[in-house]
Amino acid sequence: MARVGMPRKWVFVCINERPQEHPRPSCLRRGAADVFEAMREETGRQGLVDVKVVASGCLEPCMVGPGIYVAPDDVWYGGVTVEDVPRIVEEHLAGDRPVEFLRIGREEFALSPLQGRTDLPPGMIPPA
Ligand code: FES
Repeated sequence: MARVGMPRKWVFVCINERPQEHPRPSCLRRGAADVFEAMREETGRQGLVDVKVVASGCLEPCMVGPGIYVAPDDVWYGGVTVEDVPRIVEEHLAGDRPVEFLRIGREEFALSPLQGRTDLPPGMIPPA
């Protein structure tokens, strides 16, 4: 079935990549490309022509990636694996019931790669 009109939901999957040596992790290095492909395939397999899956740059919850944002539901997921995808598609994208154990919020966004490090240059104060 062809896509018709404005999507009912958008699924933004971060596939940002940073260099290996960068202090902040990036979702691509945690399997996000496979998650993105699995999400596209599974939404198609389940016939969700009104859900748009979009590859995204950094969405900010880098410390718990791969990060996914579902709009207009305002639901964030972190640490998503390929194995999680069918459940997200069936329960949330089709059934409108977010998968609670994968949800993240303000606490995860506040995590910092600088926290706990003792080798930082003078003047660089890690966020609390
Ligand atoms: S690199 Fe994916 S959320 Fe930042």
